[in-house]
This record gives sequence, structure tokens and C-alpha cells, in this order.
Amino acid sequence: MQNQSTKKFYNELAMDYHLIFNDWDVTINEQAKILNKVIQENSIIDSKTLLDCSCGIGTQAIGLAQYDYLVTGTDLSPKAIERAKEEAEKRNIDINFAVADFMKLESQVEGIFDIVISCDNSLPHLLTDEDLFVASKNMLSKMKSNGLFIGSIRDYNQLLEEKPTSTKPNIKGSEKNRTISFQVWDWNDDNTYLVNHFTIKGDENNYETFDRKSQYRAYKRDEMTALFKRAGFSKIKWLMPFESGYYQPIILAYKL
Ligand SMILES: C[S@@+](CC[C@H](N)C(=O)[O-])C[C@H]1O[C@@H](n2cnc3c(N)ncnc32)[C@H](O)[C@@H]1O
Repeated sequence: MQNQSTKKFYNELAMDYHLIFNDWDVTINEQAKILNKVIQENSIIDSKTLLDCSCGIGTQAIGLAQYDYLVTGTDLSPKAIERAKEEAEKRNIDINFAVADFMKLESQVEGIFDIVISCDNSLPHLLTDEDLFVASKNMLSKMKSNGLFIGSIRDYNQLLEEKPTSTKPNIKGSEKNRTISFQVWDWNDDNTYLVNHFTIKGDENNYETFDRKSQYRAYKRDEMTALFKRAGFSKIKWLMPFESGYYQPIILAYKL
């Protein structure tokens, strides 16, 4: 099953996940600053409670909790949640973490929230219209009336024109202790693609390679908008990176 392989992928990646960033702490702060501004400029209610329903190891949840939101972070991967808890504790940050599938939020997560977020290309792990529709309905069910959903995905309108076969390697450290992370993408005709996520660790004498596999679907923004609309969201709009300063296009959608 798709969810089982996604769970396995992120369980295996949990301890290495920060290696995809040059400096994870800097990323946490930069993303929170921008997302807080997006919330302040777009929320139509006074927003305090926030659910990050694909929080992973906590990149957005940890940063936003420092802006005084009351944050709940959930994710499919128990290992990512375990690490997120440790990272929040290390930083003395209070977040309520739990394992939950964003296709089952209604039954698996308690409470309703002013803001629900799902950032950094989490929703495209759902490969079919039906699965994204079910997830959207579940996200909507966790939102207060007039609440705001914020999601971010890769710019697939652009990527589908080129169908690139790899990402740029992120290289950290020096010849004495180095990590290299990058992805290789194999495209299918239906705009899904297989990701081989490589992490290479070692020093000048010996490198060890870890290869983890996952699947994504390259959703065009119009396709995602239509599915969110069908699920009951209103006033759906996209903020492009040049407008928000965020590194991915952001979808904003309201429960009116
Ligand atoms: C690219 S990571 C982003 C994580 C986090 N938002 C960040 O930026 O560090 C995608 C996340 O989506 C989660 N995910 C994928 N499918 C999910 C599902 N069905 N329910 C909940 N989380 C899911 C994965 O476990 C993973 O943590």
C-alpha cells in the first residue's frame, strides 16, 4: 500500500532528514518567519491554534510554536514524530505531537484548529485524485469556521515542462566528515514519479550510500485547486515564491 511505503521511507529518513538543508535551524527560523506573515496577512479570524498535519521532524511546527501559536504536530511516520518530540524538547518548545494519517484526521486527531498546514510537498505523496480529495476533506474537518489552510508543494507546473531526472546535491561538511544528499527521479506517463533519495556519508577514504525510495505525483496547481474546491474549501488562491518569499508555491484555502 502507498501509505506503508511512504511511512517506511520517512521512518528510514527520520534521523537524516535535516541533512537535506544547509542548516536546519536556520531553515526552521526562516520558514516560520514567512509562514507567520502569511497567516497574519491572510487569516480572517484571530488565529491561535494550529495543526501541522505532516510535520515530519518538525521543520514548520517548531518554528511556528516560537510565534506563540498553540501547535499540534501530526505525521504518518512514528520515527519522524519521535525525532520531532526530541527536537522540540531540546529547544524547550511545547508542542503536542502524535502519529496520524492526514487521510484520517477526523478520527485520529482531537480538536479543531484556526489554522491547518501541510508544507514541503507532503500532499503530493497521494497519487490519486480520490486520495487527495479524502485528505482535503479530513483537513477541512479539523478547521474552525473561517479557518485557513496553508499548504506548499513543488512548482509542478514548471517541473512538468522539463521532467528533471535529479535534484541538485546538498553537500555538507569537509573531506574529513561529509554528507551528500540528492534525489533521482524516474517519471511515469501519468505524472507520477519514483524518487530514489540518496544520502552518502563518509570521509575521503570511504563513503557509504543509503538509497530510500518513495513515490510522488506532480499535481498542477489547477488540479489541486479543483480537488480542494470539490472537498468544500472556498476562496482558494496560490501565493508564488516571488509574492511570499517562501521557497515553494503556497495554496491558501478557507473553510467558510
Ligand atoms: C517532505 S516531508 C515534509 C515534512 C515537514 N513538513 C518538513 O518540512 O520537514 C513530507 C512529510 O509528509 C508526511 N506524510 C506523507 N504522507 C502522509 C500521510 N498520509 N499522512 C500524514 N503525513 C504524511 C511524511 O511522513 C513526511 O514527514
